[in-house]
Amino acid sequence: MSLLNKIDFKCKSKQLKVLHLPCLQLNLLIWILTDNIMENATEWMTDFSDIESKFSFRTSEEPEDDLCYIVPGQPETIKECNFNPDTKTFIVIHGWTVTGMFESWVPKLVTALYDREPTANVIVVDWLSRAQQHYPTSAAFTKLVGRDVAKFVNWLQAEIDYPWEKLHLLGYSLGAHVAGIAGLLTKHKVNRITGMDPAGPSFEYADAQSTLSPDDALFVDVLHTNTRGSPDRSIGIQRPVGHIDIYPNGGTFQPGCDLQNTVLMVATSGLRNMDQIVKCSHERSIHLFIDSLLNQEQESMAYHCSSKDSFNKGMCLSCRKNRCNKVGYGVNKIRTRRSSKMYMKTRDVMPYKVFHYQVKVHFFGKTKLSYTDQPMKISLYGIHGEKENIPYIMPALNTNTTMSFLLTTDTDIGELLMVKLLWEKDTLISWPWWNPDTFHIRKLRIKSGERQSKIVFSAKEDEFSYLSRGGEAAVFVKEKETQSSRKNQRLHKLKMHGSSFKQSTE
Ligand SMILES: *[C@@H]1O[C@H](CO)[C@@H](O)[C@H](O)[C@H]1NC(C)=O
Ligand SMILES: *[C@@H]1O[C@H](CO)[C@@H](O)[C@H](O)[C@H]1NC(C)=O
Repeated sequence: MSLLNKIDFKCKSKQLKVLHLPCLQLNLLIWILTDNIMENATEWMTDFSDIESKFSFRTSEEPEDDLCYIVPGQPETIKECNFNPDTKTFIVIHGWTVTGMFESWVPKLVTALYDREPTANVIVVDWLSRAQQHYPTSAAFTKLVGRDVAKFVNWLQAEIDYPWEKLHLLGYSLGAHVAGIAGLLTKHKVNRITGMDPAGPSFEYADAQSTLSPDDALFVDVLHTNTRGSPDRSIGIQRPVGHIDIYPNGGTFQPGCDLQNTVLMVATSGLRNMDQIVKCSHERSIHLFIDSLLNQEQESMAYHCSSKDSFNKGMCLSCRKNRCNKVGYGVNKIRTRRSSKMYMKTRDVMPYKVFHYQVKVHFFGKTKLSYTDQPMKISLYGIHGEKENIPYIMPALNTNTTMSFLLTTDTDIGELLMVKLLWEKDTLISWPWWNPDTFHIRKLRIKSGERQSKIVFSAKEDEFSYLSRGGEAAVFVKEKETQSSRKNQRLHKLKMHGSSFKQSTE
C-alpha cells in the first residue's frame, strides 16, 4: 500500500509527467500491484485510509458546487449531506482532464438527473488529481479509482442497508472504465452502469476486468460517439462493452462537430474553448444522455444492426424481438448474452431525436443506364406536416435494380401520404438535351422506424412515374389500403399469372 502511494506521488511530480517513459513503467507497476491486491477480495475493502477520491453530494439548487462530501468510514456524513435512503442514487464519474477542474458538463448532467428524478441522490466522484496526469498514467489509475468507488458503494450500502437496485453509476471516458472496475468489485452487482463514450486508448485490447464490461452491473448501456481511426488511436472504445452499445451516427463523429463549426466556434468564443471543440464528438455522448433525461417526450430510438452500412441503407428499422430500443435513461433493460450493436441518427443540436425511414424503390428502364453518386431530393408529406427536399446522394443508380436507403426527418410529420422524388441535374456536366435519362418507377415502399409502419406508394398519375435527370419530381401517393390488402395482392397475382385450377377470382 505504501509503495502504491509512493508511485502515486512520483507520477504527480512535473518532472515525471514531462518524461513520459518512467511514468509508463510505473504504470505497469500500478497494474501489477493492484491486480495482486484485487485477488484478495475482503481485507482491503474496509480499509478507507488510502481512498483518494472524494464523493461530493450535489444538490439541484447548487449543482456546480461541492457543498458536502460523504466520507467512507464516517457515517455521520450520510446524514449531514441529507442523503435520501429511500430513492435512487446516481454516481457520476468524470474522465481524463487537462485543466484539473470539473468540466462544464458535470453540473449540466447533475441538473438533468435532478430534473428527471427530483428526490434522487446525485453524487459526483472527484478523482481530479489522478485524472490530470499524462494520459497513460491516468488510464492506469482507473483501477485505484474504481476500488475507491467500490469501497464507497459497499460501505454506503452496508451502513444504511441501501438497496443495490437503486444504484446507477454513470461514467464518461476514463470514468466509464472506473465505473466498470467499481461494479466488478462491489459485493453485489449494482443495478446499472451507463458508459458515455468509454475511453479507447489503453482499453481497446484490455481484458474485461480492466474495462467496462457487461459483467459489471445488472445492466450496462453504452453510447459510442467518437470512435474514429485505428482502434488503438480512437478516443472512444470501438468494440461493444455493454449489454447494449449504441453508435449514434455510426459512432465515429457527430453532426455539428465538423471543421466548419469548429472554425465558427473558435471565431465566436475564442481559443480558450479549443479544448471543448476538440472533444465535441466525445462529449456528445453525455449530451445525448442529458437529452434523454430532459426531453422525455422526444425519446430517440436506436436499432440493432449488423453494420453501419446496412443501417445507412435503411435495412435495420425493425423493432421485432427487441431489435429497437429507447436511447439513454429510458432504455429497456434487455440483457442479451452477446453485446448488441445499435445505431441511430441524430440532429446536430438538442433535442437530438430524428425520425428514421427506409425508402425502397425499383428503377425500371428500357435502356441500360448506370450511374454513381446521383444527387436526389426527396420530399415527404404526412398528416402532421411535411419535409421537403431532403438531400440524398444515391450511391448507385442502375436500370432494373432496387435501391434501399435511409432518410431522416427532424420533426414528426405523422403517417405519410405522399412522396416526391427529384433527380437533380449534375451542374458540372451538361448533358445533351436529346438524351433524357429516364427511369420508370411503379412503386415506392417506405418503412418508418418510429411508427413501425410499412406504406406502399404508387405513381400518382399512371402506372409509372418518370424520373429523369434534371426533370420534374416523380410523385407518389399512398395506396388505398384496406384490411384485405393481402388478399387483394393474392387475387391480383392470380389474375396476372393465372391459377393452375383456372378458378374464377371474380
Ligand atoms: C485474503 O485475506 C484473508 C485475511 O487476511 C486471508 O485469510 C486469506 O487467506 C486471503 N486470501 C487469499 C486468496 O490470499
Ligand atoms: C428491364 O426490365 C423490363 C421488364 O421488367 C424489360 O422490359 C427491360 O428490357 C429491362 N431493361 C433492361 C435494360 O434490361
